[in-house]
Amino acid sequence: MPGRGDRGCPASCRLARERVAENREQVQEPIIRVEDCSVVFGRRANQALEMRRSGKTKAEIERATGSTIGVYGADFEVYPGEIFVIIGLSGSGKSTLLRVINRLIEPTAGKIYLDGDYISEVSAKQLRQIRRKKIGMVFQHFGLLPNRTVLDNISFGLEVQGISASERRKSAEETLDMVGLQGQGEKLITELSGGMKQRVGLARALATKQEILLMDEPFSALDPLIRRDMQNLFLDIQGEVKRTVVFVTHDLDEALTLGHRVAIMKDGEIVQIGTPEQILREPADEYVERFVEDVDYAKVRTAETVMVEPKEVAYEVEGPRVVLRRMRQAGLSTIFVVDDERNLVGVAEAEDLARMVERDEPRLDGAIERNVTTVNGDTPLREVLPHFVGQSGPVAVVGENNRLRGVVVRGALIAGLTTASDLAESGERQLEEVKREESGEENAAPENGRLQREAPDGERI
Ligand SMILES: Nc1ncnc2c1ncn2[C@@H]1O[C@H](COP(=O)(O)OP(=O)(O)O)[C@@H](O)[C@H]1O
Ligand SMILES: [Mg+2]
Repeated sequence: MPGRGDRGCPASCRLARERVAENREQVQEPIIRVEDCSVVFGRRANQALEMRRSGKTKAEIERATGSTIGVYGADFEVYPGEIFVIIGLSGSGKSTLLRVINRLIEPTAGKIYLDGDYISEVSAKQLRQIRRKKIGMVFQHFGLLPNRTVLDNISFGLEVQGISASERRKSAEETLDMVGLQGQGEKLITELSGGMKQRVGLARALATKQEILLMDEPFSALDPLIRRDMQNLFLDIQGEVKRTVVFVTHDLDEALTLGHRVAIMKDGEIVQIGTPEQILREPADEYVERFVEDVDYAKVRTAETVMVEPKEVAYEVEGPRVVLRRMRQAGLSTIFVVDDERNLVGVAEAEDLARMVERDEPRLDGAIERNVTTVNGDTPLREVLPHFVGQSGPVAVVGENNRLRGVVVRGALIAGLTTASDLAESGERQLEEVKREESGEENAAPENGRLQREAPDGERI
């Protein structure tokens, strides 16, 4: 189904988000402030906190007091428009932490501020107002009403907010477009596929126009492909509506994909807060290190993160002499050919160009191989890998209209698959694996002539 999310995950948007995250703290007031907040389940709460302060573990405290530390000493701020992700294993306190933000759970100690208001002090009436107008909550199953129509479900949240029928309808229809379900408003929820239901759920959460959305593992029950779709759709929409989102997940890839910043929890405590890049680059302790070491970089990193500017390009209308000369100067044995709008036309080899010169041909045409495989900026490195099988020349990264945005060279790809350069071996291994998969049998047909004509690595930029 042609929804907006199918456009793919905007990696450029991800980079921009990191930059925003880095600058935000200096320029904006936080919209949520959680100050040294703890939640203890059970009766001997103060004793439990006292024991924690003196260094006892969560398990020891549970044995001694029968009380459970849900959250301990959480301290962080969330800024307007930010996607703040809370991640951790099951039981680490994510849901509890999320719920203290809208006072579904009262903290045993510590303070929560929303827009500067200390929310434990607001009256019950004010709290109802806040929950209705300011802060929405989305759960895994979105709580859709099965026997109502799609439009009714979307406008349900607005009804609760006391918005007029005509306005509700208008707003619901707009949101329907946003999630790629235009024209399906009159269908019953029971008539929809799992992925479509999820879109309705997302639409309902967005239609309410609450400034803050608390989302507790909303995509965790979905199968991986639909899940990826929903993540993309969510990012896409968030790019426009710019809500403040606190998003709980136990999936590291999801956290790194969605979060401006990510808080990692262990046994009720936040062990690190940082941008996805910071967390991968500088894990705060051994726990985080172990937690992130399973990340499949090939899945998380995209072509865009490792691409570079091509050293030179050839224009379709140029002659072979002039192009060959530039290639010599830049030390290239292949060159990408573009039209006057820098849209990729093909690739040309120095050898073929030399032949054109010998034949005194005025134009490049005969030397252009037009059948080039390309990738997009957001293609995961895992999918870029196979393009290097049987060739060590760079792979072109193209944008809209096949516009040449950059190239991925083999060395950078391998480096992108690993965290540290001494792990480059593991990148090489992944490439070897793909090669083996691609070639199938041991005695597969020999690779085409390109490989033999190959210049040394990195030369073909
Ligand atoms: N209502 C409750 N009563 C007692 N213990 C609870 C309650 N809710 C959560 N806990 C405990 O608090 C800890 C954190 O739980 P939770 O926030 O649900 O973790 P997560 O969402 O990360 O899986 C766990 O040890 C859990 O057993
Ligand atoms: Mg939970």
